[in-house]
Amino acid sequence: MKVELRINGQNRAAEVEPRKTLLDALRDNFLLNGTHAGCEHGVCGACTVLLDGDPVRSCLMFAVQADGYEVTTIEGVAPAPGELSVIQDAFCETHGLQCGYCTPGMILAAHALLQRNVAPTREEIVEAISGNICRCTGYGQIIEAVQFAAQRLQKANTPRPTDVSVVEAK
Ligand code: FES
Ligand code: FES
Repeated sequence: MKVELRINGQNRAAEVEPRKTLLDALRDNFLLNGTHAGCEHGVCGACTVLLDGDPVRSCLMFAVQADGYEVTTIEGVAPAPGELSVIQDAFCETHGLQCGYCTPGMILAAHALLQRNVAPTREEIVEAISGNICRCTGYGQIIEAVQFAAQRLQKANTPRPTDVSVVEAK
């Protein structure tokens, strides 16, 4: 069957068997190997991608079910090739990754959280990543990374003094 998706801002299409998972299609057909295969039965969250902005387990979906949707994989979060997103950079700075196997899924779960809530509490961060298992058990640093990214995003959204004076002068 033909499946047509918008992946990381680009229209993509492939012929897939109806039984093929979105995870396998992303890795095999679209060569996006940043989406990791872990348990492959919906437990670990390593395969997390964003479907129209919401985190989903790509091992639990058939590729054909994602037809027409916007998919974001870890390859799509950086602003430009060779650069890191604010969240990726925060994970590096706080040592929020060890072996890195859970990291793409964790970052996409964090991305979805910070898209809708730029100032999450610790409890909200824990809740947002609760479906993602880190076998290296680095949860403390992962939570710290998301808090750090949230602080940076809040600062980025704060008007600079010059912006304020422009607004006040109007
Ligand atoms: S690989 Fe999909 S949840 Fe584990
Ligand atoms: S960093 Fe190794 S599984 Fe999370």
